[in-house]
Amino acid sequence: MAPPCSNSSPQSIFLLLVTIFAAVSHGDNSNSNPNAPLYTYKYICDPQRFEQLGLNMAQFGFCNKSLPYAVRAKRLVDSMTLAEKVGQTGNGATGVQRLGIPQYNWWSEALHGVSDVGGGSKFSNIVPGATSFPTPITSAAAFNETLWKTIGEAVSTEARAMHNLGVAGLTFWSPNINVVRDPRWGRILETPGEDPFVVGRYAVNYVRGLQDVTGFETTDDLNTRPLKVSACCKHYAAYDVDAWYAPGNFFIDRYHYSANVTEQDMVETFLRPFEMCVKDGDVSSVMCSYNSVNGIPTCTDARLLRGTVRGDWNLHGYIVADCDSIEVIVDQQKYLADTPEDAVAQVLKGGLDLDCMSFYQTYLENATRHGLVKEADIDKALINNYIVLMRVGLFDGQPAYDSLNQNNICSAEHVELATDAARQGVVLLKNENNVLPLNTTAHKNIAAVGPHANATHVMLGNYAGTPCSYSSPLDGLSRYAKVSYLPGCLDVACLNLTYIFPAVRISKTADATIIFAGLDLSVEAESNDRSNLNLPGYQNLFIRQVASAAKGPVVLVILSAGGVNIDEFKSSSDIDAILWVGYPGEQGGNAIADVIYGKYNPGGRLPVTWYTADYVMQLPMTSMQLRPNDDLGFPGRTYKFYNGSTVYPFGFGLSYTNFIYTVVSTQRSVEKELGLGRHCHQLQYNTSAYIPPCQAAIVEDLSCDDDDVAIDVLVTNTGTVDGSHVVVLYATAPEGIIGAPIKQVIGFQRVFVAAGKSEVASFKLQSCRSLSIVTGSAYVALPAGEHTISVGDGDGAVQFPFQVYFKSQKSF
Ligand SMILES: *[C@@H]1O[C@H](CO)[C@@H](O)[C@H](O)[C@H]1NC(C)=O
Ligand SMILES: *[C@@H]1O[C@H](CO)[C@@H](O)[C@H](O)[C@H]1NC(C)=O
Ligand SMILES: *[C@@H]1O[C@H](CO)[C@@H](O)[C@H](O)[C@H]1NC(C)=O
Ligand SMILES: *[C@@H]1O[C@H](CO)[C@@H](O)[C@H](O)[C@H]1NC(C)=O
Ligand SMILES: *[C@@H]1O[C@H](CO)[C@@H](O)[C@H](O)[C@H]1NC(C)=O
Ligand SMILES: *[C@@H]1O[C@H](CO)[C@@H](O)[C@H](O)[C@H]1NC(C)=O
Ligand SMILES: *[C@@H]1O[C@H](CO)[C@@H](O)[C@H](O)[C@H]1NC(C)=O
Ligand SMILES: *[C@@H]1O[C@H](CO)[C@@H](O)[C@H](O)[C@H]1NC(C)=O
Ligand SMILES: *[C@@H]1O[C@H](CO)[C@@H](O)[C@H](O)[C@H]1NC(C)=O
Repeated sequence: MAPPCSNSSPQSIFLLLVTIFAAVSHGDNSNSNPNAPLYTYKYICDPQRFEQLGLNMAQFGFCNKSLPYAVRAKRLVDSMTLAEKVGQTGNGATGVQRLGIPQYNWWSEALHGVSDVGGGSKFSNIVPGATSFPTPITSAAAFNETLWKTIGEAVSTEARAMHNLGVAGLTFWSPNINVVRDPRWGRILETPGEDPFVVGRYAVNYVRGLQDVTGFETTDDLNTRPLKVSACCKHYAAYDVDAWYAPGNFFIDRYHYSANVTEQDMVETFLRPFEMCVKDGDVSSVMCSYNSVNGIPTCTDARLLRGTVRGDWNLHGYIVADCDSIEVIVDQQKYLADTPEDAVAQVLKGGLDLDCMSFYQTYLENATRHGLVKEADIDKALINNYIVLMRVGLFDGQPAYDSLNQNNICSAEHVELATDAARQGVVLLKNENNVLPLNTTAHKNIAAVGPHANATHVMLGNYAGTPCSYSSPLDGLSRYAKVSYLPGCLDVACLNLTYIFPAVRISKTADATIIFAGLDLSVEAESNDRSNLNLPGYQNLFIRQVASAAKGPVVLVILSAGGVNIDEFKSSSDIDAILWVGYPGEQGGNAIADVIYGKYNPGGRLPVTWYTADYVMQLPMTSMQLRPNDDLGFPGRTYKFYNGSTVYPFGFGLSYTNFIYTVVSTQRSVEKELGLGRHCHQLQYNTSAYIPPCQAAIVEDLSCDDDDVAIDVLVTNTGTVDGSHVVVLYATAPEGIIGAPIKQVIGFQRVFVAAGKSEVASFKLQSCRSLSIVTGSAYVALPAGEHTISVGDGDGAVQFPFQVYFKSQKSF
């Protein structure tokens, strides 16, 4: 979705539309009072409400609770004229007064807390703010599935409470689950990182936290499953170029970009989190993206929408456009030289149920009258949409949440969860001589310097609402020490040397110096990709000068989403410790201080590879392939395919204690039966490899329902402080299979282990899912032979072989 402020086309047009829309949608109540509620009703099918409108509710079958939602939705749609139907096809649904259907703005956001982006929810006197959790890249670094779900539950509780107070909708277009393919991408902060499986697990947990009503996690007919709020996985698919200035003046933005993607990369990387979100998370909405895939704008691609999402994955919900993406198809992509009527007809037929902005509302009526599309296709789309509004209680209410109110928003419990999430997401990158944690006796006069030392809104990233309150790094550190503060750089651009010297001076006398550096939305954001991986302006010079002059230990704290080139500080003896904190949300300062002073032992891991600076000189942002391209000299992308040097690898993160692994499970093989008449599948091997007689099986040909792989890892904390540790399990396919990933994450668990104690992390896996690879021709295949399982990576990793055999009922 377009950012809340920008001046480049088409967002400016779009902003204007938002403004007009906002005025219209609030017009009902009082367009001059910013504190008026957005919704004057709690739910639609209330007989008193109908009476006040001069209507008799009993006449309207769509309010008959004894009928199934699908029947009620059809009754509603069947009672509308074509013009009335078309009025409901955009996010600013006009409502139908004669039927007692009010206006509804479908567009609310809840990426890491209830936001007011989109206008379907707002902050005012009624609800001044909501808990702003860490940005997803920070929460992702916690590698804690319970945390992701718990945050989702807290956010949906605040959303329902706001809805009860008339200031929030019930349809939220979050989370953003695009895989981070390139370190320059501006929207890394919104995502859970570069591994498709981790991103998929984040999606499933966050969506379940937002959507699930306790006791209704599954139902016989999932189209009737009640929802706490409706979530949306976006942006589908292969969307991760925003606005990139390449060397030589080449510029490409998301409105004009066609991603050239192989089917292998689609299945393995770009679609996988969406598949998990729909199948395992049972999300109630998917949003298509601005870009094209192989020349076809995703929102008009019937194969991707109707075929894959609704057909193959069986979505229970609606497919929505990114904002103004039909306009983008016509005016920017100029796809097939379509007129607006052609375009709305195509996207509707392709499976798009709801538009964001007004292209459907403006052109669908004429497109239907001119015979370009069937009116019945509009009916189907509206029925998909209304069923979700019924499931979420907009028609009948959701009594389980009636009692939620202001006390459930910014509650002490939620603010503590935001603090804990930030603590869990902190990644310790360097800690020479165990300089951290600092000590309140030895380090009671400290210097806090750098452009982010007093960060507030920067910690929220984007798609934020108004937070409950802020704890800046200065606030947090002041709870432990007397803090002298000078920014050294006025902002992240850091273009004025004048401010550096005073900051250097205060570090000369401090017991310890903490430098807060990094990026913000001026460098990495929606519609803003990076062109290099360096810290901006004079930040390096500033850090260097402070570090060399400082009396006490020096701790560098980086706020950023994507990796930054800090190779120099990684090896510099002047920098004793480095922490990466992402954009840690409203309580970031408390969390950082708790880690620095040892109240919390850090256990986060990098969710993206930190490439060396020269990486981005080796390949353009527009090369979509994950595998290296030796002909063009492109290195691979992500830890799965990039074998070159890094500043810090994916999954890196230290602790104040030490952990060792012992694999205690004894299973070292699995035997799968190939069904009658099924064939062994051939893979491509390099010449020196051992090739088993039956090389692989297509996963669809196997029975894969049970967890047939059990791996138990004993994690022992050999140090003197308690700590949480992330156990990451990787699999590597048998040697010699061409194109197989270097390794891939198949499971992860964050476990708390007290000092001197041990805990078992148990993994129950399906060999078909966890040990399979995606072949060059896009089959998901399970290779026979000796796979390698690695527990953790780097020095402490433990590896063991794991055999896959096939038993055939019939010879091949
Ligand atoms: C609601 O639908 C049921 C089932 O079709 C029907 O028996 C009942 O009469 C309807 N109620 C009203 C008020 O129309
Ligand atoms: C995971 O997150 C949950 C929810 O915040 C928390 O209670 C738990 O302690 C975390 N687990 C670990 C091992 O840190
Ligand atoms: C994608 O492929 C098309 C057709 O081969 C080509 O014209 C276009 O330049 C390619 N785009 C990129 C970004 O590689
Ligand atoms: C719809 O069609 C009518 C007559 O064909 C035309 O006057 C009108 O301008 C069209 N509306 C739009 C939005 O194109
Ligand atoms: C903190 O520093 C003081 C003074 O240097 C020292 O006596 C004490 O042992 C230290 N405490 C810890 C926990 O290291
Ligand atoms: C820190 O930032 C807050 C909010 O912008 C501001 O009110 C406060 O004065 C700043 N503190 C210092 C010491 O500059
Ligand atoms: C740097 O800041 C100083 C003090 O505010 C100001 O006088 C000077 O003009 C600035 N220099 C630049 C290059 O902006
Ligand atoms: C790393 O990948 C590149 C690109 O495919 C390849 O040429 C090189 O041989 C690989 N290096 C190692 C050590 O595997
Ligand atoms: C080919 O496979 C062998 C092991 O069978 C391995 O040592 C070698 O690195 C592989 N070569 C390539 C180019 O992948």
